[in-house]
Amino acid sequence: MTSASACHLQQGQPSAWVRRFAPLMPRGQALDLACGGGRHARLLASLGLDVLAVDRDPQSLLATAGERISTLAFDLERPDVESDPAFPLVEGRYTGIVVTNYLHRPLLPWLLSSLADGGVLVYETFAQGNGQFGKPSNPDFLLAPGELLQAVADHPRRSDFHVIAFEDGYTASPKPAMVQRICVRRGGNTAENALG
Ligand SMILES: C[S@@+](CC[C@H](N)C(=O)[O-])C[C@H]1O[C@@H](n2cnc3c(N)ncnc32)[C@H](O)[C@@H]1O
Repeated sequence: MTSASACHLQQGQPSAWVRRFAPLMPRGQALDLACGGGRHARLLASLGLDVLAVDRDPQSLLATAGERISTLAFDLERPDVESDPAFPLVEGRYTGIVVTNYLHRPLLPWLLSSLADGGVLVYETFAQGNGQFGKPSNPDFLLAPGELLQAVADHPRRSDFHVIAFEDGYTASPKPAMVQRICVRRGGNTAENALG
């Protein structure tokens, strides 16, 4: 979870990292997890994906709903959440998943497992050291060096996943921050899925 104030800064344009890699997502069912105001749900919908936008905040979901976008109000951090039939992270379901500015570590293996063959996960959130620039500063919400890469390496089916890109460090835009970013594809590392 990250703070509401950090969230309000992110209502506008999609992140450059998500804009860069979203076109690699095959058409199909996508997921924007902890979607906030829905900037990435709208981007994915504009690329022809059908998007499930999930957030615990119903007001955010009202702002997010639109053509090709369905919404689910869901608290991702309840105990035993994965046994809830509405839990959106389901093995092999999504051709694209976006998570930005949100971190709940127990979900990391589920995010990878929920990719369909050829599906792409784009993840970007704050990293350790961000406290010098503002919020979030709570270490619970800041990634450790290389943590997203490690989540791929620790997955029980790690050989299914191909890291397309990874960055970890300072960014000046859209505001000074420490961030970590990854783009991962499940299988499908073929000529048809060329990077560009
Ligand atoms: C900083 S905002 C990021 C929103 C969006 N991903 C973006 O970058 O524009 C964090 C979002 O996570 C959501 N969130 C926080 N805790 C959550 C939980 N336990 N379950 C579902 N959503 C949660 C908040 O409601 C908020 O919309």
